[in-house]
Amino acid sequence: MAEVKKIAVVAGDGIGPEVVAEAIKVMRKTEELFGLQFEFEHGLFGGIAIDERGTPLPQDTLEMCQRSDAVLLGAVGGPKWDSNPKELRPETGLLGIRKALGLFSNIRPANVFDCLKDASTLKPEVLEGTDLIVVRELTGGIYFGEKYRREGAHGEEAVDTCVYNVTEVERIVRQAFEIAQKRSKRLASVDKANVLETSRLWREVVIRIAPEYPDVELEHVLVDNCAMQLLRRPSSFDVIVTENMFGDILSDEAAMLTGSIGMLSSASLGEGSFGLYEPVHGSAPDIAGQGIANPIATILSVALMYRLTFGYEEAATAIETAVKNVLDAGHRTGDIAVDKSKALGTTAMGDLIVAAIKR
Ligand code: NAI
Ligand code: MG
Repeated sequence: MAEVKKIAVVAGDGIGPEVVAEAIKVMRKTEELFGLQFEFEHGLFGGIAIDERGTPLPQDTLEMCQRSDAVLLGAVGGPKWDSNPKELRPETGLLGIRKALGLFSNIRPANVFDCLKDASTLKPEVLEGTDLIVVRELTGGIYFGEKYRREGAHGEEAVDTCVYNVTEVERIVRQAFEIAQKRSKRLASVDKANVLETSRLWREVVIRIAPEYPDVELEHVLVDNCAMQLLRRPSSFDVIVTENMFGDILSDEAAMLTGSIGMLSSASLGEGSFGLYEPVHGSAPDIAGQGIANPIATILSVALMYRLTFGYEEAATAIETAVKNVLDAGHRTGDIAVDKSKALGTTAMGDLIVAAIKR
């Protein structure tokens, strides 16, 4: 039996609790099959926490996350809280939890399931074999630099500053190299070193660190070129590492290679193995409470957790294979179904995946 791992569950709002319930079913099944052991603790988070506790991130929820080995998050938000002041908005809880847990990178895989290739706007032959991960820096860059307005010679001016220090670059680049080592051992570092000073520092750090990972094949790609290559040759990428704003844009571009938002998983990591795992999608208020949300994004986030936080490689692959087999057999939730009348609900999809997990 593996050591007991503590999982903090913050299901949040809308479809959050619906998809998280399916992910927990999957984890329970892998306990049985692979001798794993999880202890789940649930905390209030997001809009529901605002309603019940007057804050999106109550102190006890944060402490629960801090003493856990990994966090499983659903989604937060909804029209009910949209007009609230900033400190009483669900998204403020998201920023707060990432910051308080010291998470500095966001990891988003984009892998194309062959049987869903037709759902993408790209040609199936271009997508063939696409399986990449975008590692985005989360705490620095132009989003967090000093910003202000001033009166210039030609009227009002706005200034955003982009700052990166060596430590910030080093820690995320190392993490990306390590992730690449566990995959196909190819890393693309994306920057704009022909123009930006922060990018020149970024590239210097990458070049300095690279010899520590001799088994990883490294390429430097300028961000504008990367945006093109993602559409032309997506399957040639394995791990892409980049700064905050470039990563924001490229990870959304990469996500669209695969089609549906209901399929996209993510991880946020800090130092060490601790991580927060969540679907990329939001709380989907338009379909919440109907039992029709696609649970696959959250289930695949569990596979990421197993691989990146716990090193449960075999169980991670078993989950991914189960998802693939269920899709190959033609089962679909509404968001990915061609014939919507045959679409499965959230629980039915979860049950099929649970049943398909094999050792
Ligand atoms: P959304 O991702 O919630 O929904 C966009 C569209 O995709 C909707 O039509 C929805 O029905 C559909 N969709 C999303 N997930 C799905 C799933 N698993 N299965 C089937 N269909 C799915 O984004 P939207 O509508 O922009 O935001 C809704 C709320 O969620 C807002 O309050 C927003 O602030 C919040 N949000 C929260 C995030 C988080 O918790 N990390 C991320 C993005 C948005
Ligand atoms: Mg974005």
